[in-house]
Amino acid sequence: MTQAPAVLIVSDRPHLAALLARAVENVVACHCIGPREALPAVLPLVAVVDVNQDVALARTWIARLHVSRIASLQLTDQAPAGRMAAATRTLRADAPRTVVLATLFGLIDTWQAARRNTAATMTAPALPGEGSSGPAISRKAESLARAASGMIARLFEAASAGHPLTPAEADAGTETILAAISDCGIRTWLEVIERHDQQLYQHSLSVAGYAAAFGAGLRLTHADQMRLARAALLHDLGKAKIPLAILNKPSRLSAAELAVMRTHPAIGADLLKDQGGFDTATLEVVRHHHEMLDGSGYPDGLAGAAIPDLVRLVTICDIHSALTERRPYRDPLPHREAHTLMQAMVPKLDADLLRAFERVVLHGVLDGATA
Ligand SMILES: [Fe+2]
Ligand SMILES: [Fe+2]
Repeated sequence: MTQAPAVLIVSDRPHLAALLARAVENVVACHCIGPREALPAVLPLVAVVDVNQDVALARTWIARLHVSRIASLQLTDQAPAGRMAAATRTLRADAPRTVVLATLFGLIDTWQAARRNTAATMTAPALPGEGSSGPAISRKAESLARAASGMIARLFEAASAGHPLTPAEADAGTETILAAISDCGIRTWLEVIERHDQQLYQHSLSVAGYAAAFGAGLRLTHADQMRLARAALLHDLGKAKIPLAILNKPSRLSAAELAVMRTHPAIGADLLKDQGGFDTATLEVVRHHHEMLDGSGYPDGLAGAAIPDLVRLVTICDIHSALTERRPYRDPLPHREAHTLMQAMVPKLDADLLRAFERVVLHGVLDGATA
C-alpha cells in the first residue's frame, strides 16, 4: 500500500471531525471516516483517532495505525494504551480545537520531515515519538501560518467576489492564529508570516497575531481573546473592494487615492453587517479601527469614550504592525522605534493600553532580538 500526504480522521463525532477537517485541509488533504469503516487502501501520513463510545474499538484503531506505521493523535479520556502509545500523541477528548490543531500540525510536520530524511538516507523513518527530536517550533508555526493564510485568502476573495462569508470560517482562521501564538509566540509568528507574498494578507495575519498575543498577555478569557483576534483578522476586509491600482500602488497615494482608500473601514463593516452573524464588537472594530481618541480619525470622527476598548486595542496592533512592515516606498521601522513614535501619538492613542502593549507584547517580540 502507498502512503499519501494526507490526514485521516477516524471519529464517532462527525460534527467535530468535519470542523477539524476544514482547518486541516488548508495544509494537507483530509479524509473523515467512522470507526467501523476500513482503513483506506492509500494510507495517510497521520491519523486522528477520536473514538470514545467504544474503548476497545479505539485501542484496535491505535494498534492498526501503529502496525501500518501511521503516526496518530488520539482524543481520549482513557489512559494511554500501553506500548502501542509510543507513536501516539494523546489529548483529552474535550481539548480545545486550537490545541488539537496545533498538536496535529506538529505531528504532520514531524512526519513530513522524517519522510524527507528517509528519501535522503533510504532508511526507515522513525515515527514521531520513536527517537525523532520532535517538531521544530518554526515548522509548526509555518504549518499554522499556511492554514491561517489559506483561510484569510478565502475570506478576502469571497469579499471581493461578493460571495458569502461565514463567522465559522473567520473563527477557524482565528483559532489557528491563537494556537500559533500560544505554541510558538509572537516573534516566531512574525518571522514566519514575513515571507508571505501578499502584503494585505500578511498584514491581517500580523495584526491578528499581535491581538492574540495582547489578549493572552492581558489574561482575557478565551472567548474575549477569540473576539479580539477575530476582529483584528477582519479589520481591513473592506480593502478587498479597493481598486488594486490604489491598494498595490508602489508609491505614496495622492489625496484622491487616499480618499478612496479611506472608504475601506465602512465598506468592510457594511459587508459583514449585510452577511449577518458577526457580533457588534467585530463590526465596531472593522468600522472604527482608524478613529483617534482626539477625534481626528475616520470615518466617523469618534472621540474619547465613544471608541470602545476592543477598537483601541486593535488600533494599537494595527499601527504597530503597519509601521514595522516593509512598504515599497519605505523600509520597516524597528519595533522599538515604532513604539516610540506611537507614544508620541498620545493623546490620539490610549496611553494605558500602549504601556500594556509594551509590557505584554513588545517584550515578546524583542525577546533575544536586537531591534
Ligand atoms: Fe485599515
Ligand atoms: Fe490595517
